[in-house]
Amino acid sequence: MNAAPNDRFLRACRHEPVDRTPVWFMRQAGRYLPEYRELRGGRDILETCRDPARVVELTLQPLRRMPVDAAIVFSDIMVPLAAVGVPVRIEPGRGPVIDEPLRSAADVGRLRPLEPEADVPELAEAIRLLRKELEVPLIGFAGGPFTLASYLVEGGPSRGLERTKALLFADPVGWDNLMEALVAIVLPHLRAQAAAGAQVLQVFDSWVGTLAPDAYERAVLPHMRRLFEGLRDLDVPTIHFGVGTGELLALMRDAGGDVIGVDHRVPLDRAWHRVGPDRAVQGNVDPTVLLAPWEIVEREAVAVLDRAAMREGHVFNLGHGVLPRTDPDVLARLVDLVHARTERSR
Ligand code: CP3
Repeated sequence: MNAAPNDRFLRACRHEPVDRTPVWFMRQAGRYLPEYRELRGGRDILETCRDPARVVELTLQPLRRMPVDAAIVFSDIMVPLAAVGVPVRIEPGRGPVIDEPLRSAADVGRLRPLEPEADVPELAEAIRLLRKELEVPLIGFAGGPFTLASYLVEGGPSRGLERTKALLFADPVGWDNLMEALVAIVLPHLRAQAAAGAQVLQVFDSWVGTLAPDAYERAVLPHMRRLFEGLRDLDVPTIHFGVGTGELLALMRDAGGDVIGVDHRVPLDRAWHRVGPDRAVQGNVDPTVLLAPWEIVEREAVAVLDRAAMREGHVFNLGHGVLPRTDPDVLARLVDLVHARTERSR
């Protein structure tokens, strides 16, 4: 074992002082890496997620390229839904597709609670194997109930989430039943990852930013609160992330999460002001900036660091996942830049 394991990510999540600002990237494993494309081949991604040896390898790939301060277990937010029998497939270049979407409250009966030991044993196995290899903390994750509902109801990726929001507004009781059924899948999924060794848990409620604050407060917040309360006894820091959540940040903070993940549409200092100084924040360089020349990447990264102002509780990240066209060398250079620019004197 490493004598001094790198714990700056855990420390920042807990709002403690760090030697340098920790950095990792959402979707740091993925198609932008040639070795990822090589290993995945034409294989189905959900099938790949059931193969612990491949999961370990895909999780480790980005860490061989760059000194990120955290690993995120290779999986997908649709894994627990597939595991309870939802017929879902992931189409390359498109995303999750469900041929028989859930369209009414009556369809909620198709969802049963997750039993992690029986339903997703491969993920726990992969996490146990990873903990033996890793010198940085390991993140486990799940999708937020709203975001999972959006795929279940729309039947695939969708811009406006019209059917999902129609259900939410038209049938609040049916909606709450759906949210509860999804919490009964997501909560055991997260708890099992922590039990297997995940040291931080991130909830990706990626598409919740399509809601107005009132609707979020009424239809999503109570369920997110139950989810985060159900994780509290674990003593594992949690990250609560969504896209386009500028007006939701204070409500997301109220729902829970030791760290609030912020996308690039809100300046980090403004986001932090909304979240409150006692909470940690994660973010938030626009992922498309990484497709520009290095001088621009540097300027934008420094702008984020300036807004964070070396305060305790900043985890450097992008505002959303790494894009497939990103040059891995640019990402590696960005890690070095963040570390070099944020070294604290002791
Ligand atoms: O490195 C990591 O971050 C861990 C791996 C990870 C994947 N999916 C693997 C994956 C994570 C954290 C996710 C989460 C996820 N999956 C989210 C939340 C994060 C976000 O981006 O908002 C969502 C919404 C999904 C659903 C999903 N799965 C989408 C929208 C796609 C993209 C489809 C495409 O081809 O662009 C997937 C497929 C997927 N999951 C890929 C990866 C690396 C890419 C496709 C592939 O390799 O076949």
